[in-house]
Amino acid sequence: MTSFFKRTLLACAVAGVSACGGSNTTSNTSSVEAAFTDRNQNGVMDDYENPALDVTSRAKNLISLLSLEQKAHLLTGTGFQLNNVGGSEKVPGAAGSTFAIPELGIPAMVLADGPAGLRISPTRDNDTASYFATAFPIATALASTWNTALVTQVGDAMGEEVKEYGVDLFLAPGMNIHANPLAGRNFEYYSEDPLVSGLMAASIVNGVEAHGVGTTIKHFVANNAETSRMWLDAHINEQAYREIYLRGFEIAIEASQPWAIMTSYNKVNGVYTSQDEVLLETVLRDEFGYEGLVMTDWFAGDSAPAQMQAGNDLIMPGMPDQRQAIIDAVNNGTLLETTLDCNLQRIVETLLKSPSYNDYAYSNQPDLDAHAQVARQAAAEGVVLLKNTNHALPIQSDTKIAAFGNTSYDFIAGGTGSGDVNEAYTVSLVDGLNNANVPVFEPLKEAYTAFMAAEAAKRPPKKHFFELQSPLPEFSVPEALLSDAVEASDVGLITIGRNAGEFQDRKLDADFNLTDAELSMIAQVSAAYHKAGKPVVAVLNTGGVVEVASWREHVDAIVLPWQGGQEAGNALVDVLTGKVNPSGRLATTFPLAYSDNPTATVFPGKPTSEETVKDPYIGLFVGKHMQFDYVDGIYVGYRYYDTFNVPVAYEFGYGLSYTDFSISKVTVQPSENPAEFTIKAAVSNKGKLPGKEVVQVYVTAPAGNLPKASKSLVAFNKTASLQPDSTEMLTFSVTAKQLASFSEQQRAWVVEAGDYTFHVGHSSQNIAQQVTVNIPESIVVEKVLATLTPPAPVAEISPQ
Ligand code: BGC
Repeated sequence: MTSFFKRTLLACAVAGVSACGGSNTTSNTSSVEAAFTDRNQNGVMDDYENPALDVTSRAKNLISLLSLEQKAHLLTGTGFQLNNVGGSEKVPGAAGSTFAIPELGIPAMVLADGPAGLRISPTRDNDTASYFATAFPIATALASTWNTALVTQVGDAMGEEVKEYGVDLFLAPGMNIHANPLAGRNFEYYSEDPLVSGLMAASIVNGVEAHGVGTTIKHFVANNAETSRMWLDAHINEQAYREIYLRGFEIAIEASQPWAIMTSYNKVNGVYTSQDEVLLETVLRDEFGYEGLVMTDWFAGDSAPAQMQAGNDLIMPGMPDQRQAIIDAVNNGTLLETTLDCNLQRIVETLLKSPSYNDYAYSNQPDLDAHAQVARQAAAEGVVLLKNTNHALPIQSDTKIAAFGNTSYDFIAGGTGSGDVNEAYTVSLVDGLNNANVPVFEPLKEAYTAFMAAEAAKRPPKKHFFELQSPLPEFSVPEALLSDAVEASDVGLITIGRNAGEFQDRKLDADFNLTDAELSMIAQVSAAYHKAGKPVVAVLNTGGVVEVASWREHVDAIVLPWQGGQEAGNALVDVLTGKVNPSGRLATTFPLAYSDNPTATVFPGKPTSEETVKDPYIGLFVGKHMQFDYVDGIYVGYRYYDTFNVPVAYEFGYGLSYTDFSISKVTVQPSENPAEFTIKAAVSNKGKLPGKEVVQVYVTAPAGNLPKASKSLVAFNKTASLQPDSTEMLTFSVTAKQLASFSEQQRAWVVEAGDYTFHVGHSSQNIAQQVTVNIPESIVVEKVLATLTPPAPVAEISPQ
């Protein structure tokens, strides 16, 4: 027995009793006469079959009827079939399933991805029906709406698809922090700010779970790089760990209490998150009050017994040797069966409320037409207008367009890997223009289409569904065709496309930075249009941040629709034509150069050994043991650029509109709690078109003893569509926790004494009004139970 197990065996047994609801149930049958399903066909109503009993007691009873073998089955999923893309017989293409226990009449639960919509197979063997799901905008685009009500609507639509396709647990939303623009899965995540991430995730959770199906917030925690992700050890000092990386999850749990959480692949501070009992029991359950189940990511971690011990209830996708390891650990006394019961309690409680257990008659016919409209609305509201000179936008309805860039003709709806969706169609920019009857220069379209078809035919077919194919070479438009295009059109549109997905991080060259071919296309097309006195608009169909500073002067406007899902082209054209006034704002900073990011030199970590390692199950994941020091500490995203006075291309919170807004009459109302405030602000539309504005509240806290960013977002809100000359009063609640910093010394969240300046504005750098309040004495907002330090302190950057 290792010392780790000696230390924790008792702790979990004790924690287990309280966390699992106290007394041991012995009675397992009931004499109450009631309508019930005799699931185990023993002629009596067992407690677990009694619909009148509470879920806790029913789950306890069911667990008491399981053999150790059956328990090991329920604690691990049914496995993974790579070629079938998934592990559910009931819903092909779903990512996994729990075991059924037919003797007890217990069905399997089906688990399916993912953040941009439900990922299942669109077709099935021997079946002529189709099973398409809606591709909604990627999470980064949803966050750019800053509209939690709209994101809840997206969740609502996703939830209907989850339920009507027979799925119980949705493996979304993803909510890791955008700390470095090259992280391969940023598109699945919302923001560099934990408040935005937490509230967006909660909105999806609440929308989906209103349907009586579950969500899984992921990846808990610090899944901020894909390189060697199964062997990556993130070293994070405690203040940054709590204020930045854990905080979003804490906010989401408080606002939505999701059914499930997925731990990450990586280690944090030396321990796999799925094997970290302090993280899962003390922080997640005791401190954050999380009540649901915890599952692993697929094939994560290296010890099933340690995962059980840590309170990682469900191991996915689940392998036979993991079941055997659990059984052996119980038999040899290194793992208590009561610990398993505790894990099972949370799985069975989830099972009992699932549609599968309750025999929900799913239709396989969600309302895809209605959801396409939700996707379009969300995509349009997530479009961020980065630049708009000389009123290049909106275009008039009779404007003739010539579309450049391969991606104009083949829009990228979303990223690859588990965050992908099998949608029925994707509306490209050019399709969107056609749908809106905006004339498109046909000869250019024909040339692009022919070139792309020829190039695509040369590409080898994808080896796996999650393979990220390299982009086609950019079509080089012949001089004569360019002249014809300039002559025949009023505006040149140039789309730059980027894709990314799990298993690899993005690259600096030809990905974050534009390719030479793209840069020369921008230069040539712009020069030709400008010579003719006509404007050029660049469109960034990307899942994440790209370099813009070196080329933005060439173009008149830059529009960022991100990857807007299957309706992306229609949504973008709604914005280009002014049908929708852009109200998206950046929830992640666009730096001037990659090297400006404070983790540019350390991302994604350094190998700690030269040995190449492979995952033991499917042998697809290859990497090295690595360590990634989070040297930026709490200075992530705008917290860094702002505090260290590093200029950026487009700051956090930024985005233009076709109208102008002013913010006035800012008031700050104290409450009974000396560190809680209600802020009000009047927002007026001073321009000529209706539109929505996002108002952001940042705080500058007093210098005090704890490191602090010069500004942190503490609240935000969005207006309804305001008519010209009209005003809306917005209200913001600022909690003490939002003002507090984490003190490692005091083991507490503390609001330090001094002046707090609230900045109310249009972005992190465009502040309209400021109000300062004084908090005379330091306030301990919350004590913590766990200590979360790295093996050795990380040497962090500091503004002094
Ligand atoms: C991803 C998860 C996903 C799971 C199941 C993993 O590779 O990291 O986010 O939910 O696969 O598809």
